[in-house]
Amino acid sequence: MEQISRRERILVVDDESQVSDIIAQCLAMEGFRCDTADCAETALSLCERNDYNLIISDIMMPGKSGIELLGLIRQMYPDVAIIMVTAVDDRATAVNALHLGAYGYVIKPFDLNEIVIGVVNALERRRLSMQSREYERRLENDVRQRTADIQRREEEICLRLAAACGYRDLETGSHNRRLGLYSAVLARELGWPGQSQDEIRISIAMHDIGKIGLPDNILRKPARLTDEEFAVIKTHTVIGARMLKGSDFSLLNMAHSIALSHHEKWDGSGYPYGLSGEEIPQPARICSVLDVYDALVHKRIYRPAMPEEAALSIMTASRGSHFDPEIFDCFIEALPQLRAIRSEVRDLEE
Ligand SMILES: [Fe+2]
Ligand SMILES: [Fe+2]
Repeated sequence: MEQISRRERILVVDDESQVSDIIAQCLAMEGFRCDTADCAETALSLCERNDYNLIISDIMMPGKSGIELLGLIRQMYPDVAIIMVTAVDDRATAVNALHLGAYGYVIKPFDLNEIVIGVVNALERRRLSMQSREYERRLENDVRQRTADIQRREEEICLRLAAACGYRDLETGSHNRRLGLYSAVLARELGWPGQSQDEIRISIAMHDIGKIGLPDNILRKPARLTDEEFAVIKTHTVIGARMLKGSDFSLLNMAHSIALSHHEKWDGSGYPYGLSGEEIPQPARICSVLDVYDALVHKRIYRPAMPEEAALSIMTASRGSHFDPEIFDCFIEALPQLRAIRSEVRDLEE
């Protein structure tokens, strides 16, 4: 009994004030701080003003019954323990009260010792259950925190890897960040689950990672490319795919399919394999729309930024030839969100 803190506060509810007074006096002698109420309504208003650890409530009362009070307290103050007091012929109701979340019940006429023992037990059970709830909450928080850490780490590694390639390509980091955010919007609009939305946001940054394997004289050539040179540029898809292939992680598998297929076209006229329609993995179909959009409306070393209207009319002409029509329509619908992302994530020189 010593481990129970006597600072705990108890409310005794009974319409017969002699009963609640006797209980309160007895508990006060045990060192508890006690209040009394003669009905459920008064009990509820006392609960608003004071923090009780435990309520002892009669069941049969005028106005709201003790069972109703029990239901309300469980809902509004789930950490408050409740013991029900009931008449002898009311045993079924008492058992029902246990199902509704009461910590125990005492049958009238009771021995005061029974009350004290019931109170001490209920408070101890309450303490243990709060402790275990707190432990669970901390555990859940830890897991959530660690998962978030891992995700941030993955994301940062991917973005830095993509940035390493960007150094050679003169492609901007902001282009990749925008693609990530755009793609998460489209994935959500297309009804993808949350985890896949995160995966495309991260993995799309690696779409051009294969460019790291291209020779500088072609990759950074300021003039128009010859057919042979363009054939070399095209290999950035298979080089990237080779870099990302064979992972156990779905994130990298998605990065692989985007790197390999982001230049495929809906009508089969793209590269490297001339895949068409749904043969092209959906993440790559999303990437191709967004990559073209973002490239057109931003400045490149070889050309100025294009007004969005002009970019969209060029792109609309390729709906169903270059672009998956369903994804294209979804892209058009999502444009207000994409514009917001553009104004958030600007190129350094903008
Ligand atoms: Fe590319
Ligand atoms: Fe790109």
